[in-house]
Amino acid sequence: MEKLVVGNLKMNILSPLEREQYFKSFKKEMVGKKLSRTEIILCPSPIHLESFFKVLGGKAKIGALNAFWERQGSFTGEVSPAMIKNFGGEYVVVGHSERRRYLHETDEEINLKIIAILKNGLRPILCVGESSQKESSAIIINQLKNCLEGVTGAKMENVVLCYEPVWAISSNKPDHMPTTNEVMSARLLIKKILVAKYGKKITDRVKIIYGGSVDAKNVKEICNESGMDGALVGREALVPYELVKIARIINQ
Ligand code: PGA
Repeated sequence: MEKLVVGNLKMNILSPLEREQYFKSFKKEMVGKKLSRTEIILCPSPIHLESFFKVLGGKAKIGALNAFWERQGSFTGEVSPAMIKNFGGEYVVVGHSERRRYLHETDEEINLKIIAILKNGLRPILCVGESSQKESSAIIINQLKNCLEGVTGAKMENVVLCYEPVWAISSNKPDHMPTTNEVMSARLLIKKILVAKYGKKITDRVKIIYGGSVDAKNVKEICNESGMDGALVGREALVPYELVKIARIINQ
């Protein structure tokens, strides 16, 4: 698939009833919709991962929103990449700004997670981005350098990168969105860093997506016109009608 639409369901869907409604509505939205070049990846809380895979696994790929770097054992409360894989997950979002902010996740920890995720044959979706518009691009350069430490070229093809300016995430109540040109520049910066480390051939195979307040109205301008390979969608992913609409626009 050329394009990816990742639904970040965050800490939502609180009951079996709510989950049933989500399943029903997602299935209904997918009837007769051919997304020839776009993959939808649904990433729910780990409590829902297995049921999402069982019920929607034929219509979407399933991903997790975090993973620990160890495989098994005395790591109370953690979920390992092997568990995610064995219960149907294929992707894992890592380095999301909300985890960096509330759980103080560091680049070094994110790096350990990425290595473990790749080792288990899963695909990490690494989020990078500046916290405020005042921050320079050095932040992205550093995040990429630290988080991808020790990731070989062969493995890099399985990493998805998400440029997510933290200030543009809907829950941070942005008063405006990045322009197409700004998103395009971030994409070029990421590509430049990857080319320097992995060469052009590998870099061309790495998918780079955009996240932050994506909706059906702005997705064409922000994602398609900036050359992004897809989107990471938070708020709008909770409404399957909107998520599928976004995926159809990305698929164009
Ligand atoms: P948003 O969330 O689409 O609600 O801005 C995106 C995210 O936090 O990944």
